[in-house]
Amino acid sequence: MLNYSNLIAEALKAREFSYSPYSHFSVGAALQGQSGKIYRGCNVESCAYGPTNCAERTAVFKAVSEGERAFTAIAVVGAPEQEKDTLTHTAFPCGVCRQVLAEFCSMDMEVIVARSCEDYEIYTLGQLLPQAFTPQSL
Ligand code: THU
Repeated sequence: MLNYSNLIAEALKAREFSYSPYSHFSVGAALQGQSGKIYRGCNVESCAYGPTNCAERTAVFKAVSEGERAFTAIAVVGAPEQEKDTLTHTAFPCGVCRQVLAEFCSMDMEVIVARSCEDYEIYTLGQLLPQAFTPQSL
């Protein structure tokens, strides 16, 4: 297990750009590529609600669209917008984001859900998405 405080700090920075005028729930993610590059993502909401994109998927789509497809870890921070660097909430990736992560990440990839750089829990993707349908399932 690595020290994830830098990745969490990146997720907190990503969260500052959250566009969430409807839910007022700001989420940030930081996805570590196998190259070492970190891709940040925030949630981007829509007035039509359905087109809203979660922070985790923003980070994955940024990375894949820049040519990176293998990842070692993702940190996620999410809470009502008025909460700043030390969060009381713990935001887990939604089911859709878990499925998108499973497209590109191994089941032992670590998912860090954090409230601050010092306060976090680590799960594997396999713990969050057991019996997953993956590209190998086809
Ligand atoms: N959200 C994320 O960004 N990631 C998740 O995994 C869960 C939910 C966002 C979507 C929406 O903008 C807000 O949080 C409230 O659901």
